[in-house]
Amino acid sequence: MADLSTNLCGIKSPNPFWLASGPPTNSGEQIMRAFDTGWGGAVWKTLGIPVVNVSSRLAAVDYAGQKMTGLNNIELITDRPLESNFKEIYEVKKRYPEHAVVVSLMVESKEEWKEIIHRAEDAGADGLELNFGCPHGMCERGMGSSVGQEPKVLELITSWVMEYAKIPVLVKLTPNTGDILVPGLAAVAGGANGISLINTIKSIIGVNLDTLVPMPNVGGLSTNGGYCGPAVKPIALYMASALARDPKITVPISGIGGISTWQDAAEFLALGTTNVQVCTAVMHYGYRIVEDLIDGLSNYLDDQGMKSVTELVGKAAKNVKDWGDLDLNYGVIPKIDSDKCIGCQLCYIACLDGGHQCIHTRQNLCWAFHGESDHGVNPRIEPGPAVTHETNGKIPEHVPYVDEDECIGCNLCSLICPVPGCITMTEIPNTKGKESWNERVAKGLD
Ligand SMILES: Cc1cc2nc3c(=O)[nH]c(=O)nc-3n(C[C@H](O)[C@H](O)[C@H](O)COP(=O)(O)O)c2cc1C
Repeated sequence: MADLSTNLCGIKSPNPFWLASGPPTNSGEQIMRAFDTGWGGAVWKTLGIPVVNVSSRLAAVDYAGQKMTGLNNIELITDRPLESNFKEIYEVKKRYPEHAVVVSLMVESKEEWKEIIHRAEDAGADGLELNFGCPHGMCERGMGSSVGQEPKVLELITSWVMEYAKIPVLVKLTPNTGDILVPGLAAVAGGANGISLINTIKSIIGVNLDTLVPMPNVGGLSTNGGYCGPAVKPIALYMASALARDPKITVPISGIGGISTWQDAAEFLALGTTNVQVCTAVMHYGYRIVEDLIDGLSNYLDDQGMKSVTELVGKAAKNVKDWGDLDLNYGVIPKIDSDKCIGCQLCYIACLDGGHQCIHTRQNLCWAFHGESDHGVNPRIEPGPAVTHETNGKIPEHVPYVDEDECIGCNLCSLICPVPGCITMTEIPNTKGKESWNERVAKGLD
């Protein structure tokens, strides 16, 4: 079985699966249960000067039958006494010396940073994570994402921390920024040992149209919160990969955002993160999802012939390029499996109204053959040269026809087709050879 152990800037863990700072890491009792279930590490719920939290504080988007596709929260940092937290950190580390316990911190002044770092180290923490990402409540107090959005402040506070810390320090970034490289580079310049991302995305999740109060409702009012869960994974993947493939980011990355399955985790690792952290999926399904995460990743690594998880790290990074480096002469077209097609015509409608008008119903083709031109509104409804009465006749009438000469290969039809495996995008021979936009510019062609 592949070796799942990881070492993120000196913080060792039996596997790459850590709990992200949040409700699942609020207390020692929870973290010990999580470790018993199989989690390799945990980032403690952010400690600072304890706050008063509000009720209610969560709201979610359910989409197409899936509960909590996206989660919004207006919870702040810990509301439990620091003393209790540090006692529990000590207890957890004593009982689970092989697991990673990282303490998330957020305070304001240099003196406060000095004191809280020492207390976390005295309690036995393996590492620190600086919460420069919380996009609600704390940023209004000059902390959280207000630090993450100001590269100079981020660098300065990181350098304060590095002055005092004897254990590895991760800087947790906010996605609420224009170019993630800017805060990433500031973290490196400040001396951080690693970067974790993403924290939540500033959001208002919806409005209750009966009460006209946005959600979550706090006594008839609401406020913007932080968005996370499956819906944010693509944003997190992009940001993690943008940092991982930049040579100036010289520190390892912990990937966070929308991870629920082993495949999600494997994607982050393949794009270059050394490990992953999970919050919403645990809030949804509980700690036991880690069993599937471990089994799934282990099997995948075995199937791929990889002996350790570190072999996977960054394996897909080389396949991410700037748009200008993509081959302009590469092309795909859809093939519709007429045995699988149920004749729903969704691909026809999508292509007609939202695509490039290259899929036609055979009924329309027949009308066209008989001289009735689809009300004369769509000139492309005329049959393409490849279509004859015979070919049309061999394919059941409910199966749409793809005009391959006109198709631009956008994928839309295959994305909306409800039948698995019915529409397959297939590569068309590239007769012109590879050429990217950057190459064309270099040749003076564009
Ligand atoms: C209710 C809630 C509370 C959170 N509290 C913290 C926190 O105290 N510190 C922190 O760094 N991140 C906090 N987060 C953000 C998570 O650690 C994580 O970065 C984010 O939720 C994205 O991961 P996910 O999609 O797996 O949830 C919180 C998230 C939620 C949902």
